[in-house]
Amino acid sequence: MKTLRTVADLRSALAGHRREGETIALVPTMGYLHEGHLSLVRAARERAGVVVVSLFVNPSQFNEAADLEAYPRDEARDVDLASAAGADILFAPALDEVYPQGFGTQVRVGGALTDRLEGAHRGAEHFHGVTTVVCKLMNMVGPDVAVFGQKDAQQALVLRRMVADLDMPVRIDVAPTVREPDGLALSSRNVRLHGDDRRRALALHRGLQAATAALAGGERDAARLTAAARSAMDELGVQPEYLALVDPGTLDPLDAVDGREALLAVAARVGDVRLIDNTILIPD
Ligand code: PAJ
Repeated sequence: MKTLRTVADLRSALAGHRREGETIALVPTMGYLHEGHLSLVRAARERAGVVVVSLFVNPSQFNEAADLEAYPRDEARDVDLASAAGADILFAPALDEVYPQGFGTQVRVGGALTDRLEGAHRGAEHFHGVTTVVCKLMNMVGPDVAVFGQKDAQQALVLRRMVADLDMPVRIDVAPTVREPDGLALSSRNVRLHGDDRRRALALHRGLQAATAALAGGERDAARLTAAARSAMDELGVQPEYLALVDPGTLDPLDAVDGREALLAVAARVGDVRLIDNTILIPD
């Protein structure tokens, strides 16, 4: 695996592969790689001849300076993990390679997809930061396919919208959420959960499981399904920032799970770490 830092080097490394007719997959990340990221790299490996993993902690998508400051980084470890998972190129540009002096363009997906859930709580600016950087990465790499995680379900929806709206010639694939054995969704921020907070962080998964169990028991009503989730979270002393049953394609709020799949999405702060998780509720 090669580590490349400039767009020029990346383009020249990819040009040969493209001439040979090889397909290219991109896995964008902010590093501090874990099994969730690596599952995307393996999925990308199955889908394309060349796998590019990008590593860039994108300041424009952080709405809290302290969160950006505390974001864990370890490039040497990421190099080993990405390489072992089958990446061909790690693209790790410096800040001014992505945002040079005079940078002034933003790519924004407007409307409900960026206003709701994470957008309502972190601000739509978060997604404007994500779409701007992912659009740039797509332009730098020119992938045939890009792989994202279901853990960030809203992010994947927003990116699908961007790609469709801007006629970008790339397919977006979404891979399942990878969890710790106890159910906690893997996240780079989990290393910041200390002491009892690691145990309390399970509240998100427990809440989602409680709603899934209530659905299996015949409950269809959104208020009662989310109440089941809330009370399971409450047992661990965690209150959700939001807990919402929505249409998985539009994020429109749902009153009930009625014959179609529904997305149950949750965010909560545990200690000083903000966590998100979600599940798809499938009526039988
Ligand atoms: P990051 O949080 O590093 O996540 C990179 C990719 O890994 C995203 O597609 C995310 O959904 C996926 N991922 C994270 N945890 C996962 C898990 N437990 N299981 C499966 N996939 C998981 O998301 C970002 O970075 C950034 O917003 C980015 C898209 C790179 C733009 O800066």
